[in-house]
Amino acid sequence: MTTTFPNDFLWGASTAPHQIEGSNTNSDFWANEGLIPGMERSGDACDSYHRYREDMQLLADAGCNSYRFGIEWARVEPVEGLISKAELAHYRRMIDTAMELGLTPVVTLHHFTNPRWFAEAGGWLADEAIDRFTRYVDAVTSILDGVEWVVTMNEPNMLAMMIAMSRMMTDAASTPSEGTEEEWSSPTVETGGRPRQLPTPDPEIGAIFVRAHHAAREVLRAKTSAKVGWSVANRAFEARPGGEEKLIELQWTWEDLYLEGAAGDDFVGVQSYSTQWVTAEGIEPYPEHPDNTLVGTAYRPDALGMAVRHTFDVTGLPILVTENGIATGDDERRIAYTVGALEGLAAAMDDGVPVHGYLHWSLLDNYEWGHWEPTFGLIAVDRETFVRTPKPSLAWLGAVAQRGTL
Ligand code: FCB
Repeated sequence: MTTTFPNDFLWGASTAPHQIEGSNTNSDFWANEGLIPGMERSGDACDSYHRYREDMQLLADAGCNSYRFGIEWARVEPVEGLISKAELAHYRRMIDTAMELGLTPVVTLHHFTNPRWFAEAGGWLADEAIDRFTRYVDAVTSILDGVEWVVTMNEPNMLAMMIAMSRMMTDAASTPSEGTEEEWSSPTVETGGRPRQLPTPDPEIGAIFVRAHHAAREVLRAKTSAKVGWSVANRAFEARPGGEEKLIELQWTWEDLYLEGAAGDDFVGVQSYSTQWVTAEGIEPYPEHPDNTLVGTAYRPDALGMAVRHTFDVTGLPILVTENGIATGDDERRIAYTVGALEGLAAAMDDGVPVHGYLHWSLLDNYEWGHWEPTFGLIAVDRETFVRTPKPSLAWLGAVAQRGTL
């Protein structure tokens, strides 16, 4: 098995605007933070809105050659129809900075958060939703000159799950003692921000995202020369005896609907963290285990290899690993996990899966959607002073990038 990666392989790390920028006050997520008991606020986050150059410099100095970051719709269009030229210029400066530092930018246009006005006007379920999104994408094309990789939407499957979750919470609030119990046994959010059992994404909402992605792709193709794709969360489902049929059903609702939606794209983003057992009854919650990560998932570095293989089987498309990482306070564990993940990736590439890059989640310890405790970063951030302290894993990843071997 070769552990040598191609010379033009992209090596780097990923982030998302709401998780690192700070003060994303016009977004729906900001508005909802603090409403749910036990949920922490993003506040200043990592102040990367102002400190992005320092962040990118650390990544480039370590030896990496790519950075995935997002453009925040709620900043670009804080009020319906009002496109902020200043915010577009800000994101163009980020693109220019990445290029100046030798980092190939991978730009995400939507990473879970929506403008508050969009959510208040019915969100993704409104008739105008896709037109609204496409209008924003159209505005962003004015700053994408020279950008080679664009991800229209991050994890539409997880976004569909989040919509199911918020519906459930609304239902549970109106009928506290019935209804949701069987489907979702514990609606309390556990440490690390992930509920024990995630509600199933609604395929009808998935279909809306597929249409939104295609509409955005059309605009991007007409106005830019970027490769266009979207990134899908891969759960690396595995069947327990008797769970084989259920696995096929769940794989479609959670992943394949979105992977099929990538047909005609230039690439597909793979995002992988752990595996997931399936029984005849459905998804098996992760048993308590000392090896579990800070978000309660099983320690499974082999998930990435499984994820890219499944993604390629369904799509036949070139792949970019747009997220892979581990929530841990132990940086040696992060390196060990990533070694295992890259070995699985290399083995899949050896078997013919076309992979163009590996972007680790995440560059910084950041705001994990309601919680600060799960640390996924290659760099620690002091939340009072915003001082960045690279962990050994950053230098390690940079060295792998430079050598092109494990
Ligand atoms: C993914 C998200 C990303 C981060 C990681 C841990 O589902 O895309 O923002 O939360 O998980």
